[in-house]
Amino acid sequence: MIIEPRKYDIDGHSLILRSAEKKDAEIMLPYLKRVCGETRFLLREPDECSDLTSEQEEGFIAYHAEKERACLIVAELDGEYIGNASFDTAGPSRRNAHRADIGIALYLDYTGRGIGKKLFALILETIEKCGFESAELRVVEGNDRAINMYKSFGFTETGRIPNANKYDDGTYADDILMSRRI
Ligand SMILES: CC(C)(COP(=O)(O)OP(=O)(O)OC[C@H]1O[C@@H](n2cnc3c(N)ncnc32)[C@H](O)[C@@H]1OP(=O)(O)O)[C@@H](O)C(=O)NCCC(=O)NCCS
Repeated sequence: MIIEPRKYDIDGHSLILRSAEKKDAEIMLPYLKRVCGETRFLLREPDECSDLTSEQEEGFIAYHAEKERACLIVAELDGEYIGNASFDTAGPSRRNAHRADIGIALYLDYTGRGIGKKLFALILETIEKCGFESAELRVVEGNDRAINMYKSFGFTETGRIPNANKYDDGTYADDILMSRRI
């Protein structure tokens, strides 16, 4: 789905939250590689992002634009792409269609400035408009900034997958499952 763009002031800087467009595909590939390299808390190792093509990114954008109950929202600060957040149904079947699954990531330079909270609030507002009954996400243990933000929006821990992540250095981290009723 496509949302109406929103504008905010962040300490004198202009933040725009808007639906992703086809033209964003070019920037989203380097974005993915960069954010995955900045933190251990995302899905992929940065070199794994090189396998993705801009056609696949365009497909990802089009999927979220065309699907009625999914959305990909881009954050721009003073006209620069700084991250995105998205949701989709938690699974493909009718039995999963009442649950929204969320993802969110900003460039490290732009974290801790209240932008994630604005983006996450808009994601939840859109999820509510879509009629979902619950929202859920996975977060890697130790990602306290994200966990605190999710808790502040009423999310609670509902489960844990021990050692869900194995890193190249041989260490592991759990995935924490968090959810909230809408
Ligand atoms: C997680 C993320 C989206 C949060 O966005 P953000 O812009 O950094 O967060 P905000 O500045 O809006 O702060 C939101 C809340 O996070 C928590 N928070 C912020 N900075 C924090 C810090 N240094 N330590 C602990 N909690 C922190 C607070 O609860 C804060 O709310 P408050 O200001 O009312 O106290 C962002 O940090 C990010 O993209 N991180 C890298 C990728 C990632 O980890 N994605 C999540 C994967 S599950």
